[in-house]
Amino acid sequence: MAGWTEPSHRTGPPLWLLAELTYRCPLHCVFCYNPTRHARITQELSTAEWVNVMQQARALGAAQLGFSGGEPLLRDDLEELVAEARRLGFYTNLITSGVGLTPARAQRLHDAGLDHVQLSFQDSTRELNDFLSHTRTFELKQRVARTIKDQGWPMVMNCVLHRHNLPHVDKIIEMALDLGAEYLELANTQYYGWAWVNRDHLMPTREQLLHAEAVVNQYRERIGNRCRLLFVVPDYFEDRPKACMNGWGSVFLSVAPDGLAMPCHNARELPGLALPSVREHTLAEIWQRSGAFNAFRGEDWMREPCRSCHERHKDFGGCRCQAFQITGDAANTDPVCSKSPQHERVLRLVREAPARRHIPIVFRSDAESRLLHPEPAP
Ligand code: SF4
Ligand code: FES
Repeated sequence: MAGWTEPSHRTGPPLWLLAELTYRCPLHCVFCYNPTRHARITQELSTAEWVNVMQQARALGAAQLGFSGGEPLLRDDLEELVAEARRLGFYTNLITSGVGLTPARAQRLHDAGLDHVQLSFQDSTRELNDFLSHTRTFELKQRVARTIKDQGWPMVMNCVLHRHNLPHVDKIIEMALDLGAEYLELANTQYYGWAWVNRDHLMPTREQLLHAEAVVNQYRERIGNRCRLLFVVPDYFEDRPKACMNGWGSVFLSVAPDGLAMPCHNARELPGLALPSVREHTLAEIWQRSGAFNAFRGEDWMREPCRSCHERHKDFGGCRCQAFQITGDAANTDPVCSKSPQHERVLRLVREAPARRHIPIVFRSDAESRLLHPEPAP
């Protein structure tokens, strides 16, 4: 799995580059998808190294660039990176909690050419927003939303949904309308990173989901195009998995703060992948020839039932990280699929969550990260 291969003419370009500038973050969200070992991952890429990554990615054909984290605003060189991205012709998106986006900084990022901002909220109420992020950030986020509008950026608001805030979905939509969001992404929790640790606390009921989806549909009819509502269904409650990353090594390339290149932002958790570093290899080598990017590319890796399934071109066998987390083997069919012989494990996770809520909720923090991972990252 870890070996390098010859480039294949069938490999298209990485259209979407996710630059995870830092895992540092002032918030402590219980559903954060960053790796739980984040505090063990240091040695962030320098400005010059990121510029080099962006130049190589653009040369390979990447067109969309997301600056994310952690909190990317913690990087003092963000304006410089945005300016370089603009010069290279990327369409840029800042994915932020809002902490650090003062009017002055927003102006500088606007001047540097930032195209788009995605602002996260935890809830429509101060109590839950501040509880879930373990910070007092609710009012700050409202101010930042106005700052984003003042700069004339299109605003995507993002709110991760789970059993605590699903009953507030109407209020969350109202808040997005009040703040002038053009898009509202209501993304039900995907269970990776800290969300996997806290999944029993976050797991909704099917009734909650059905109700929330009905509310979203009513709003869609009422508000039309004033604000586009995206409702991302949690796949634990589906019979088919999501087409994760649109297929492994197909269009998505993520670079972690320490320079590891990954086909998805959770790939660090998969054993035996030997993720390549942009400090040691060119992006073209990594994308086309590395064992990590070729491990689950295309269909040759598939086992039954995916291998002979007529739906494999649609969902690519689902999510490798989910297959590993739940079945112990990343090459298995994603157990969310009802055709998977291990589908019952997903049903059990949903069924047994309420009885397991005596386990304490874990807020993301450096201290918890070090407790969970006593050894430095390899
Ligand atoms: Fe998708 Fe595999 Fe399920 Fe077929 S068996 S629907 S390819 S996950
Ligand atoms: Fe890693 Fe789906 S999150 S493949």
